[in-house]
Amino acid sequence: MITITGVRKKYRSGRKKIEALKGVSLTVKKGEVFGLVGPNGAGKTTLIKCLLGLTEFEKGKIQIGELDHKETRAKTITGYLPEEARVYTNLTGRENLLLFASLLKMDANKSRKRTAELLEFVGLKEAGDSLVRTYSKGMMQRISLAQALLNDPEIVILDEPMSGLDPLGRIMMIDLIKKMKQEGKTILMSTHIIPDVEAVCDRFALIHKGKVIFEGGVAEVIKRHAEHYVVKFLKEDSGLEEVNVKAEEMWELFEEGRAEGWKVISVLPGRGGLQELFKNIIEEHEQ
Ligand SMILES: Nc1ncnc2c1ncn2[C@@H]1O[C@H](COP(=O)(O)OP(=O)(O)OP(=O)(O)O)[C@@H](O)[C@H]1O
Ligand SMILES: [Mg+2]
Repeated sequence: MITITGVRKKYRSGRKKIEALKGVSLTVKKGEVFGLVGPNGAGKTTLIKCLLGLTEFEKGKIQIGELDHKETRAKTITGYLPEEARVYTNLTGRENLLLFASLLKMDANKSRKRTAELLEFVGLKEAGDSLVRTYSKGMMQRISLAQALLNDPEIVILDEPMSGLDPLGRIMMIDLIKKMKQEGKTILMSTHIIPDVEAVCDRFALIHKGKVIFEGGVAEVIKRHAEHYVVKFLKEDSGLEEVNVKAEEMWELFEEGRAEGWKVISVLPGRGGLQELFKNIIEEHEQ
């Protein structure tokens, strides 16, 4: 659905040149959630801006479906949630959506209907008529997401959708991403939060200093690399307890937990999981 081939991009600031992308290639398949992962300054936002035609690049090619990314049609099938929300804080959530709908030249009836639908979708049905300046960070992200979805895009590009969100906000955003996937949308999201990759992404690319240094499937990588899992239980008498367990021993542990009446709080890949893989790969590339 998205094919990026050999993209190079330099920024000029004064006399200094910064090579932000040094020949990036990757493919996002139709209907998948693709994670663009990497530390601060890796080039994630730059790549997204190149893809959306918001900045020029010197070399390489980006295709959306069969189209060059610069074609109008490619732009109309793409929705974008920027790193910093671009909403008018002195308008209500609903007014923001109606305003952007009018910029998309949507007719009044359709835009009213679409706006109501989207407010419901992002969980802002009640708050839709409050001024955006009274919104929490999480609500702000959700109204921007609604804005990105106005024209019902096939492809949704999310730049750090979970950054600054509290745990509940994160869960809501993860939920929305899963729902969009169910609706058949193709999603490209950038993040530096590894558990978010584990929670929603099908595949991911690790980008570091302007280069893709790893591309793969999340489940595949966890299966290949996770040596054990960390299971958190809540026990009635002794409170929270963390247990390290090998995959093949997991069911036995759960059986014991069930017999004892423990509550499972979380199961995460432990040593050898994505987090450690990233650390190892990045360290290799530092040398
Ligand atoms: N407008 C700009 N002018 C000059 N340099 C820039 C500009 N935008 C980004 N850069 C530089 O390009 C590199 C890549 O930045 P980019 O914002 O793409 O990284 P990122 O992976 O999105 O990081 P973050 O996780 O902090 O959002 C950095 O070295 C950054 O300083
Ligand atoms: Mg960024």
